[in-house]
Amino acid sequence: MTTAKVALVTAAAGAGIGAAVARQLAQDGMDVVITDAHERRAAEFAEQLGQECGTSFAAYALDVTDFDRVGEVVNDVVARKGRLDVLVNNAGWSKIAPLAEMDRETWLRCIDVDLNGTFNCMRHALPQMIEQHSGAIVNISSIAAWETSKEHGAAYSAAKSGVHALTRVAAAENGKHGIRVNAVAPGLIYNDFLRKIYPDDFFSGYIENKSLLERVGEPQDIANIVSFLVSERAGYITGEVYGVSGGVCPGG
Ligand SMILES: NC(=O)c1ccc[n+]([C@@H]2O[C@H](COP(=O)([O-])OP(=O)(O)OC[C@H]3O[C@@H](n4cnc5c(N)ncnc54)[C@H](O)[C@@H]3O)[C@@H](O)[C@H]2O)c1
Repeated sequence: MTTAKVALVTAAAGAGIGAAVARQLAQDGMDVVITDAHERRAAEFAEQLGQECGTSFAAYALDVTDFDRVGEVVNDVVARKGRLDVLVNNAGWSKIAPLAEMDRETWLRCIDVDLNGTFNCMRHALPQMIEQHSGAIVNISSIAAWETSKEHGAAYSAAKSGVHALTRVAAAENGKHGIRVNAVAPGLIYNDFLRKIYPDDFFSGYIENKSLLERVGEPQDIANIVSFLVSERAGYITGEVYGVSGGVCPGG
């Protein structure tokens, strides 16, 4: 059993936001549970983070689209640590194609990872948080949810819009249980893997012509707001969606 707050982060062992969020929450003193679809990377990242922080962190192979596996992992975390205080739904997937040419598999996969995956994790975490009468959930969405743009593709934009609705309803239903639910909608948070998703012209001129702050976002920009949103300092904030895009696409 642990006395620290227990935080489960999905897709925590990649090149971007999930790992930065996990590291920040660990630095905030939380007992972070590293989960990722990629089993080896999850174990390696948990090991690395443990060395950095002088402690040890649990790692689980977890594909968020697998409803039953999400339940198993949440149950195991609660059995071992006695609680679950924070859930960060970071897993996302995207393949861009115009709607008129989008294959059905792309649509279904995107909805499954980005929207159903978020549902799966909230569905299993909420009963435990209700029992504890406390909890904080942050869903990582995207400015694609509200941007009128050809850049992100309909499946991703629709899935992330769904995440906003899911966030607001979950907040409405669970405030009385002491649970806060918010979303963060990043703009471009650069990592090299994005080159496989977006064409080169998406990146060209981004710093000069799009970002009001003349830079791309960094994973730490998202880790900072997640750290705040799950803390007591954000105790009166729920049902909100925060854009973090360097002013590229404010509002929502
Ligand atoms: N990077 C950006 O510019 C950007 C912008 C807006 C929104 N987002 C959102 O932020 C989140 C993180 O994106 P990122 O680019 O920082 O990547 P990341 O590095 O945080 O995540 C990549 C990781 O996701 C894991 N993953 C993929 N599918 C999974 C699944 N089904 N279940 C569990 N894990 C899975 C991969 O194994 C990989 O380790 C996503 O939800 C993404 O849609 C990213």
